[in-house]
Amino acid sequence: MNSKITIIDHRTGKPYDLPVDQGAIPAIELRRVKESDDDLGLMSYDPGFKNTASCRSKITFIDGARSILRYRGYPIESLARDSNYLETAYLLIQGVLPGRDDLDGWVEQIKRHRDLPECIQQVIKAFRSDAHPMGVLISSIAALSTCYPEARRLDDTQTLEQQTYRLIGMMPTIAAYSLRHRLGLDVIAPDANLGHTGNFLRMLGQRQKSGGVAEISEKVLDVILLLHADLEQNCSANVMRCVASSLGDPHCATAAAVAALSGPRHGGANERVLEQLRKVGSKDQVPGLLKRVKAREERLMGFGHRVYRDYDPRARILKQIAEDVFAEIGSSPLLDVAKELERVALEDDFFVQRRLYPNVDFYSGIILDSIGFPANEFTVLFAIARTAGWLAQYREFLADAEQSIARPRQIYDGEDEREYIPITDR
Ligand code: ACO
Repeated sequence: MNSKITIIDHRTGKPYDLPVDQGAIPAIELRRVKESDDDLGLMSYDPGFKNTASCRSKITFIDGARSILRYRGYPIESLARDSNYLETAYLLIQGVLPGRDDLDGWVEQIKRHRDLPECIQQVIKAFRSDAHPMGVLISSIAALSTCYPEARRLDDTQTLEQQTYRLIGMMPTIAAYSLRHRLGLDVIAPDANLGHTGNFLRMLGQRQKSGGVAEISEKVLDVILLLHADLEQNCSANVMRCVASSLGDPHCATAAAVAALSGPRHGGANERVLEQLRKVGSKDQVPGLLKRVKAREERLMGFGHRVYRDYDPRARILKQIAEDVFAEIGSSPLLDVAKELERVALEDDFFVQRRLYPNVDFYSGIILDSIGFPANEFTVLFAIARTAGWLAQYREFLADAEQSIARPRQIYDGEDEREYIPITDR
């Protein structure tokens, strides 16, 4: 039900009625609150968008206080148990669970769009063997936009659908080709007989460690991809929407979103978690790390979240997967360190008061390491997974008549007008 609030501007004594819709005030209404006629009106100041809703969305629901994550209304726990990555990608993008024919058609189209154009393969080959895979990924996806100039026709739904197949289909191929190039190995072409995740592992050369892990890695990796498929208006989704707002094509937008994901405060965290756990090395070193974290000498990677102020439900699922994987392949000192770190941190006032819990990255790195992925590939896997969510966000943005170009305001805090001084006089 629509309602309103009344605020009083004590600068002028004037009251204003502002509409409240779904728990939010339309920020533009604040512009009516003016000190004088030539005043531009009140703005809201919100660095980091900590309390700003930038859109209405039907894709993903999070309740950070109650540990809830739902894609299109379906709890993440049931999707992780019963669905798979490509079906979940369909759900996120198309809004409903597919029927059998729809799912078969979807999977078939994505399979048909796995092959990389020759020029993209050349782009990948141009990188040095020590290039960070995220830089290679960003460049290759941006280059895709030059192969498909029709992708700029954003009002053509069929074209948009085709870019969706291409991006979901080609991301694993780019990742696999890039890894094999860096290892000095020949590429392995996509195999139309294999599913999304199985084909990806195949293109990597099934680099998993031996000892029964090969059989479980496809299922485990598929669940990891599913868990990372979307998380509403996070940093990279926001970038995706920003590029959509300027009507940038889906390839350019995805390249920008991958760039946003690459930082250690976002998708780059899982790589850092593993580094940190390795540095700690054993359970008896845990108190030392927590002491350094509390002294603000370093951050506890894989802990804390802007929205989750309780246990991240994805971390809970991943913790269980980690237990299952190591029950199969033998124990892991890293898992023991992680569990001890979690145990001690969750009893410590510093973490309790700030409501810092393990996030999705805390256990994912240990699992990916155990199935043979190098740490600097972790964020690439995250990007492969998140492509579904980014495209869902992008397409929802384009269909939203309330949206326009994303262009925040600022509070100018700099110098007033001043005269230019020639360099000889400075
Ligand atoms: N270790 C130690 N202290 C932390 C941590 C952490 N991981 N996270 C937050 N804090 C502390 C901050 O120092 C701050 O304390 P203060 O109020 O005394 O200054 C308080 O908790 C609030 O932290 P903010 O940084 O304001 O929280 P914000 O919502 O801006 O940041 C973020 C969230 C970036 C995820 C942060 O928790 C962090 O850096 N975590 C580590 C990196 C990480 O795991 N990122 C992955 C996030 S999930 C994802 O993108 C997949």
